[in-house]
Amino acid sequence: MQTKDLGFNTKMVHAGHPHDQYGSAVTPIYQTSTFAFDNAQTGADRFAGRADGFIYTRIGNPTICALEKNVAELENGTEGIATASGMGAVSVIYMALLSQGAHLVSTGSVYGPSRGLIEKQFSRFGVEYSYVDTSDVENIRTSMRPNTKMVYLESPSNPAMLVTDIRAASDVAHRHGALVVVDNTFASPYLQKPLDLGADIVFHSVTKFINGHADVVGGIIVAKDVAVCKHLRTMMVTLGVNMDPHQAYLVNRGVKTLSLRVERAQENAMKIARWLEAHPKVEWVRYVGLPSHPQHELVKRQMSGFGSMISFELKGGYEAGRNLMDNVRLATLAVSLGGVETLIEHPASMTHAAMSQADRLEGGITDGLVRYSVGIEDVEDLIADLEQAIAKV
Ligand SMILES: Cc1ncc(COP(=O)(O)O)c(C=O)c1O
Repeated sequence: MQTKDLGFNTKMVHAGHPHDQYGSAVTPIYQTSTFAFDNAQTGADRFAGRADGFIYTRIGNPTICALEKNVAELENGTEGIATASGMGAVSVIYMALLSQGAHLVSTGSVYGPSRGLIEKQFSRFGVEYSYVDTSDVENIRTSMRPNTKMVYLESPSNPAMLVTDIRAASDVAHRHGALVVVDNTFASPYLQKPLDLGADIVFHSVTKFINGHADVVGGIIVAKDVAVCKHLRTMMVTLGVNMDPHQAYLVNRGVKTLSLRVERAQENAMKIARWLEAHPKVEWVRYVGLPSHPQHELVKRQMSGFGSMISFELKGGYEAGRNLMDNVRLATLAVSLGGVETLIEHPASMTHAAMSQADRLEGGITDGLVRYSVGIEDVEDLIADLEQAIAKV
């Protein structure tokens, strides 16, 4: 079915799903490692790219392909490349596009392991880096060097909720011949389309909003340029970080309700953020939907909604936050985000523990910061849960 010119919700449900010989209403799990060729010539033609058809699941598989086509359309890109995890996607992007002597400019408060991979691993191969506050595009401009090959942004960033002007950052990067990569995990393609804002590559930890049910780890990359897509796919296949058909089946199911889940969760998040902001025991709240967020106006221009991620700190800092996490009953104390269930976690000791305290503070991640991923439960129940837990602090 041709879905390119149809609306987001229609694409979400239909884009990419093939119609097999049985008329299956959903894409089945093609749980096979390899695909038989009719004869030797067909095999040779498929390997040479002269004939369509699947070869081997690390290279491609119908269940995975359906997801890749679906998310490529949701992001208004050319091709999707599914990976075993979000970090698999990050690894493919770095490996494909950063060579010895290349320089990367990135968001200081980026997801910890995305930064750790550059600082601890790629630096061993001579990759240079500058982590800066990209919410001020001037910092990107002044960090550009003749060897800058990539501007890697995360917006909104996890968990500092800093927002980068993707269009302005892309203008700066392109003037210096660098590619722009955006981690769109926090927003999802429903709320933000980086490729439309000038970025070259967008990726997701589909573990989060795209799948949305906390039962899959996975990633996906979408790019615009055909040659870049081909290069990224070759790297994914060579590194062997492909998604598995069963994973893809679950994500194909999850993505069909993306907009409904995001709408409901962000409605809850707005009410909770306002409630937290008015609470006497709360020191500060960072939610991109609140007028108190320093980039609220940019968010309104760049995103079509505010999402469901909230960071806040209680008066009493780390000890108070720890106490809160031990006392919530409805929210699950767990890392990850973007699922139908509400999760709470402590970045400084969990997701961002790999970063030094100095780097965390520079990126706005204080030791007392609590990250709250709002789900689709009844908001009254979530607020009551927070209320009883905060009362015990
Ligand atoms: C913003 C962001 N990017 C990338 C990742 C990595 O994804 P995964 O855990 O699927 O490897 C995460 C995981 O939490 C994340 O929050």
